[in-house]
Amino acid sequence: MSAPLLSVYDLYAGYQDFDILKGIDLEVHPGEIVCVIGPNGAGKSTVFKAIYGFVKVRQGAVRFDGQEITNARPRDVLNAGISIVPQLRSVFPQMTVMENLEMGMYLEKNQTRVRRRIQYILDLFPRLGERRAQMAGTMSGGEQRMLEIGRALMLEPKMVMMDEPSAGLAPLIIRTIFENIQRLNREIGLTVLMIEQNARQGLEASHRGYVLELGRNAYEGPARALLDNRDVRRAFLGGQ
Ligand SMILES: Nc1ncnc2c1ncn2[C@@H]1O[C@H](COP(=O)(O)OP(=O)(O)OP(=O)(O)O)[C@@H](O)[C@H]1O
Ligand SMILES: [Mg+2]
Repeated sequence: MSAPLLSVYDLYAGYQDFDILKGIDLEVHPGEIVCVIGPNGAGKSTVFKAIYGFVKVRQGAVRFDGQEITNARPRDVLNAGISIVPQLRSVFPQMTVMENLEMGMYLEKNQTRVRRRIQYILDLFPRLGERRAQMAGTMSGGEQRMLEIGRALMLEPKMVMMDEPSAGLAPLIIRTIFENIQRLNREIGLTVLMIEQNARQGLEASHRGYVLELGRNAYEGPARALLDNRDVRRAFLGGQ
């Protein structure tokens, strides 16, 4: 296998004086879709926050693309090539689709480059193209999610981290979101690290997966193997 793009090693992090993560290990290889699952409160979002510099790493290391980014500031993590779609909705509701995409590149002075990139995103998501002048807050939940993903792609990241991309969406729309993630992976080689509460569907859309429990690694492996694992199924996939 290729060298990992992201490697998280023995990660300890938490809030106040309390460790939520107690030695998490995780790797993402270039071109992979990796899904992190686990019960509420397991520490999944905290892993993302620790990678992104929103919470302090107390022990362990984060490396990305050959660079050590442990406790780097969010801006530097972004510059290293990781963009993030957070767990809570993050479109700017009073701005149009176009303006939201511009915000994904708001420090870029070269307007030609910004226009070109927006056109690229609109071509990737024709639905956003049709709605380019619409206020983001008036779009459906699924369209807003697509816009968030599009905005995260504006800076040509090497990897996108998505915290529960399917949250709060209707079953049919959830399928569309996962199909789009797989399409981006296939068509532009997008590397994705995502957290999913819809564990079965998340794994079905992924190459590999991690199960976290109480701030530790519980299981990991090819997504197919996790889906077939009896213990994982019973404890984390609704027993199906
Ligand atoms: N800002 C905070 N201050 C204190 N404790 C926090 C904070 N954010 C999260 N926690 C606690 O850390 C633990 C892990 O939270 P985290 O959000 O990482 O879980 P999660 O696995 O993402 O859960 P969910 O599936 O509900 O999103 C929880 O017990 C939570 O209450
Ligand atoms: Mg979470």
